[in-house]
Amino acid sequence: MDDDEVYGLSWPGKRAAAREAARPATASLELDPEASVSPATTGNLVIEGDNLEALKLLREEYAGRIGTIYVDPPYNTGNDFVYNDSFRGEGDLGGRVHGAWLSMMYARLSVARDLLAADGVGFVSIDANEVAQLTLLLSELFGEGNVFSTIVWVSNLKGRQIRGGGPAGTHEYVLCFSRDATAVRRFVGSADELRRLMPAVYKGAPYPVKHDERGPYVTKNRLHNTNSRFNEKTLPTMVYRIHYHPETGEVRVSDIDDDTTFPGFLTVMPHPNARPGVRWHAWRWSRAKVLAEHADLEFEVTGDQVRIHTKVRDVDAMTMKDLVIGPSTTTGQAELRALGLARVFETPKPVELIRLLVAVASDPDGIVLDFFAGSGTTAEAVMRQNARDGGSRRWIMVQLDEPCAPGTPAAEAGFATVSAITRERIRRAGERIDAPGVDTGFRALRLVEKSV
Ligand SMILES: C[S@@+](CC[C@H](N)C(=O)[O-])C[C@H]1O[C@@H](n2cnc3c(N)ncnc32)[C@H](O)[C@@H]1O
Repeated sequence: MDDDEVYGLSWPGKRAAAREAARPATASLELDPEASVSPATTGNLVIEGDNLEALKLLREEYAGRIGTIYVDPPYNTGNDFVYNDSFRGEGDLGGRVHGAWLSMMYARLSVARDLLAADGVGFVSIDANEVAQLTLLLSELFGEGNVFSTIVWVSNLKGRQIRGGGPAGTHEYVLCFSRDATAVRRFVGSADELRRLMPAVYKGAPYPVKHDERGPYVTKNRLHNTNSRFNEKTLPTMVYRIHYHPETGEVRVSDIDDDTTFPGFLTVMPHPNARPGVRWHAWRWSRAKVLAEHADLEFEVTGDQVRIHTKVRDVDAMTMKDLVIGPSTTTGQAELRALGLARVFETPKPVELIRLLVAVASDPDGIVLDFFAGSGTTAEAVMRQNARDGGSRRWIMVQLDEPCAPGTPAAEAGFATVSAITRERIRRAGERIDAPGVDTGFRALRLVEKSV
């Protein structure tokens, strides 16, 4: 290895981007009561202006307090959208195509990192153009291993010929990152809802719901650890006998080599292990836990055979998979149409895609931030999730006041800026949310340069 070789992502302009991120904010936030909805009572914000400046200002109040970030930045496709989607600049070919976009993202994500809670989760939507660059950029900013999943979202199953040759593209990505991947919760959603939304991904009949004196439960797993690596040699404390009294429900434990029996009790040996040199699988629960919590074990007795299952009390819980198929780009457009905003914004995400991420990753009373708000889909997704689960999540949207070019459907519908679209969409979506107690208001803030 040569001394000057280092691993990493580099591009011309990276240092300048770091300096830009470090520069203090020069603007302040001003309330526009006319553009707001219920400003006196709401906890939600729509900020108009450049998100780098906005993030720096938000940091003063929200450092380490944002539980969920979802962003859908410009993909740098070079397409002619109502917002700028081309960050092509100077330098060699790679630098020219990716450099300016990377600098833009680097500065913003590095300030966003300060806002994210220690156990918070961030999501970034991206397509094939920049997925490689963005994955490396996030790894650098958040640490290797903290870009913990890449969700595939099938945006268009019809397929679109993106380049001249090769297969037609059907999907995009949602990169998931955190400050500490070990603090990230399991992405548990409602099994019922996941099956309804994506029957092809969440197959199989639901587990039958049973009942005991504590309420409903399902059984998915036996008590033993199915991995044969865990056995009396590798985990001796977890290999023992369990004794069960079928009439009284009483439970006792004893050493694996102790063949004492108890009158009226059935003895349950651990699962036989097929590995050479060992006899038993380890249990998943310690002796103390079995003794204290056996009401959460189901003993299935057939003759003198006993199978032990663990009871899962959250009968509707299921871990989300890293594939989203169903809500598509077309769905997102139809949702805007249904709000009377057809074609004013070309690339709205479907509400259900973001709602799903919010449902599995956010605290019911947390804060959700989207600093590339576009048509404001994230705000609608959060309000809808609050309406479903009674949560009180707050949201913060940031959107640049990019002008809508004359002749575009947005300009023809009377929108001067993209941020005006953001506010109007959220206002209309909020009016349609029919759940008392959901905060559908927002304070409309504007970034204004401080006068010196
Ligand atoms: C891909 S769109 C987001 C679409 C959005 N997820 C939706 O569902 O409607 C990206 C948005 O980021 C906005 N944007 C780009 N640069 C920005 C910046 N520096 N500050 C704030 N917003 C910006 C664009 O105007 C555009 O509306």
